Amino acid sequence: MKLAIAFGLLLSLLAVSAAAERFDFFYFVQQWPGSYCDTWRGCCFPDSGKPAADFGIHGLWPNYAQCHGRYGLARAVLGDDAFFSIVGRRGRCWPQYCGGDYDDNALRPWEIRDLIASLERSWPTLSCKSGRSFEFWSYEWKKHGTCSNLEPHDYFARALALKAAHNLTAILAGAGIVPSATETYSVSSVSDAITQGTGFTANLDCNRDADGESQLYQVFMCVDREAKRLIDCPLHKRSKCSDQVKLPLF
Ligand SMILES: *[C@@H]1O[C@H](CO)[C@@H](O)[C@H](O)[C@H]1NC(C)=O
Repeated sequence: MKLAIAFGLLLSLLAVSAAAERFDFFYFVQQWPGSYCDTWRGCCFPDSGKPAADFGIHGLWPNYAQCHGRYGLARAVLGDDAFFSIVGRRGRCWPQYCGGDYDDNALRPWEIRDLIASLERSWPTLSCKSGRSFEFWSYEWKKHGTCSNLEPHDYFARALALKAAHNLTAILAGAGIVPSATETYSVSSVSDAITQGTGFTANLDCNRDADGESQLYQVFMCVDREAKRLIDCPLHKRSKCSDQVKLPLF
């Protein structure tokens, strides 16, 4: 009896895992390279060379409008190992690893070969783990892209198109917010500039430089499920920014 229930659940889970992911929106996350690099941790430049002093893509992340406990019963019955091997490591606030954490879900270079030059410019790695930006894209694909209901080429092409359509570096510069070693800017002026420039309000994420000063690190824009248009964010992240933030040189 127990076995039959578990088997039934298994079958329905397999059906669910093959179906479209139900998420509500994407976070399109861009990072300021100066703020990535000047923390105590530091950074490394990719094999393709020092990136431009421009916001770079961190990721395009499917997200739920509300956190919830997915498949709680199935997980309890199957146990974590079996559960995760079937449905992947879906989290409570966003889906992730929708194809599981397997190598056969890795991104293949030929799938995005015509995008590689643009990705190297717009989505460079700054991690010291590897100078190969491809590993960054592949990680993002496995963790987030596999939950996007998009093919790899569309997933990366749409992220690039979003970045090109809303140039944060230019939008901020237009409001007098330019990289500087000493200047600080009010968070509200940064936020207002982005709202003016894109038509939508962003969530801002800050980190601290090696001296402990607050600086603009990442900008989260919300995007529709097709990854084509900005939308009003269904939820607002709590900002860790101080009232005044830096935008360090890179
Ligand atoms: C964004 O704008 C900046 C500043 O005007 C410029 O240097 C950069 O090349 C632009 N980026 C893209 C991807 O067009």
